[in-house]
Amino acid sequence: MTSKKRVGVLISGRGSNLLSLIEACKQPEFPAEIVLVVSNRADAGGLQHGTRNNIPTQVIDHKQFATREEFEDELTAALEAEHVDLVCNAGFMRLLTENFVDHWLNRQLNIHPSLLPSYKGLNTHARVLADGSLITGCSVHFVRTEMDSGPLIAQAAIGVVPGETEESLAARVLAVEHVIYPYALHLVASGAVVVENDRVKYGDKLPDLEQPENGSDWFIVPRA
Ligand code: GRF
Repeated sequence: MTSKKRVGVLISGRGSNLLSLIEACKQPEFPAEIVLVVSNRADAGGLQHGTRNNIPTQVIDHKQFATREEFEDELTAALEAEHVDLVCNAGFMRLLTENFVDHWLNRQLNIHPSLLPSYKGLNTHARVLADGSLITGCSVHFVRTEMDSGPLIAQAAIGVVPGETEESLAARVLAVEHVIYPYALHLVASGAVVVENDRVKYGDKLPDLEQPENGSDWFIVPRA
């Protein structure tokens, strides 16, 4: 295999998506490796996943900077010091300006717990339930300056079931997030997808990746 893409992961909280990426990167054939975890919060639980897996971690506290741009420049400096190729936002709770977004254009991924472009922003599951939506899911996309926007790389859909609560829906979607984020990173890091005209273009042959079993209550797009 050609050399693995070097990935920096940005977090703000518990880091369960970070952990799913760490586990995926342990597979010898996975085309990416995580070389840095950065949190903007010193109390982010997810930092322990980096430490336990011998991945360098850094805290860059946004409150220490006068402007968003100065904070972002510090992030970029940390990422570039580790020669990062791709940035994965995993529960990173800071809005990013074009200063950062353009620097990492088509090299920065984000995961969001809804079927974008529906339900951007916070409290997605409560809004899905309030609307009586029958299908929801999660999306991985390239980052643009508009929040939770950008070319979609992969989505997973699940049905909302009778008796669903915000907690049950969050848990079911999160379990699928942990499959779809490594899947999307695999697609990008392997070069199976590229961005053209601000849309993701899929190569002729997608990597042979694990898919939900037939009869599962969820599915991923694209399918290998
Ligand atoms: C996930 O639901 C993710 O989709 C959203 O923030 C949450 C982060 O959870 N962007 P975790 O920190 O990865 O556990």
